[in-house]
Amino acid sequence: MAYAHLPAYLKFPDKVQLTAVCDIRQEAVKLFAKTAKISAIYNDFEKMLKEEDIDAVDICTIHDQHKFQTIIAAEAGKHILLEKPMACTLQDCRDMVKATEKAGVNFMIAQVLRYLPSSQGVLSLIQNEELGSIRAAQGNSILKQSLILPHDHWMFDGNRAGGGVLITLSIHLIDLLRYFLGDVKKVSGICKTMNPLFINGAEDFSSATLEFKSGAIGNIFASFSIGRTPWNIKYLIYGDSGTIYSNPPPLNKAHYQIGSAVISSRKLDNDGRTSQKGEFIPIKPISNTLVGNDPFINEIIHFVDSCQNDKEPFSSGKDNLNTMKTIFGIYKSSNTNKVINLNDI
Ligand SMILES: NC(=O)c1ccc[n+]([C@@H]2O[C@H](COP(=O)([O-])OP(=O)(O)OC[C@H]3O[C@@H](n4cnc5c(N)ncnc54)[C@H](O)[C@@H]3O)[C@@H](O)[C@H]2O)c1
Repeated sequence: MAYAHLPAYLKFPDKVQLTAVCDIRQEAVKLFAKTAKISAIYNDFEKMLKEEDIDAVDICTIHDQHKFQTIIAAEAGKHILLEKPMACTLQDCRDMVKATEKAGVNFMIAQVLRYLPSSQGVLSLIQNEELGSIRAAQGNSILKQSLILPHDHWMFDGNRAGGGVLITLSIHLIDLLRYFLGDVKKVSGICKTMNPLFINGAEDFSSATLEFKSGAIGNIFASFSIGRTPWNIKYLIYGDSGTIYSNPPPLNKAHYQIGSAVISSRKLDNDGRTSQKGEFIPIKPISNTLVGNDPFINEIIHFVDSCQNDKEPFSSGKDNLNTMKTIFGIYKSSNTNKVINLNDI
């Protein structure tokens, strides 16, 4: 992910500069430093915080490192951009938000889907009530990790990742649906490990039902073990006056991110009636709060601007606590066979 973040730093040197890089693997840190033209190289994050004159850190490490690194960065007075998921337990997440608030630093989670112009377009439609009351939402996230990653990769290990496909991949859509529909009240879910490559409680299949505080209902399905499809992440949102549907990327442009979003309109005829089906029309992407079309560049520059202007980012750590609550609520439901009220965890 550090490489996905890099273009933003290279494109906006007047706003932000990378001055040091750290990785515990020497070959990885050397390669990144060469690509990014950085001369200060570290293998120890704490040492880098002590020795370098930096304002902020961009943490792209493995989930089990997120808590420690966030808290020591906050204590060193650094603003923090952290890759999702925030951490491996809800208590860790709460401790991190507390530590960053105590230190008075900006803490943003890199929930990249919020920074797609299509997501801003959908948000604006919903805020303008063009969908009417929203009744339901659905989201699917599908990858085949065993075809992509070495089989000893941390993503297969629940001890390192804090879980499996739900915490690593579904989190994107759960966070996006929260952004659009508001917080989740109750969840139930089933998380299962079917492929033995997944160990220490990492599930490769997950299915969950959500009830939002608004009364809308939703379902979320995800798998790390289904033959790879070019259409990996998609969602639907159903309102009284229209349906939003995230279009797949164009043919031959397979990408794991979602494509543009379209809305189904239901035009009334002269008698004030409408057809059963309506038609899908592209929605207008909105980028006035973003710097362009690339969600990673948008996300990083949004973080930089929020640090420089002392503003809470769209995906603050504080906001993200409720995404993490939803995730850990689904795990709890799967472990206990019970519906979980998120106020109780
Ligand atoms: N937003 C997205 O679309 C997206 C996609 C993939 C991954 N991610 C997230 O990005 C993060 C990184 O994932 P990745 O796929 O880049 O993993 P990766 O394994 O490719 O890279 C992680 C790097 O962190 C280094 N590292 C581990 N512990 C460290 C420590 N204590 N100090 C310094 N360096 C350390 C590793 O050596 C490795 O180079 C995860 O949180 C993951 O969920 C986000």
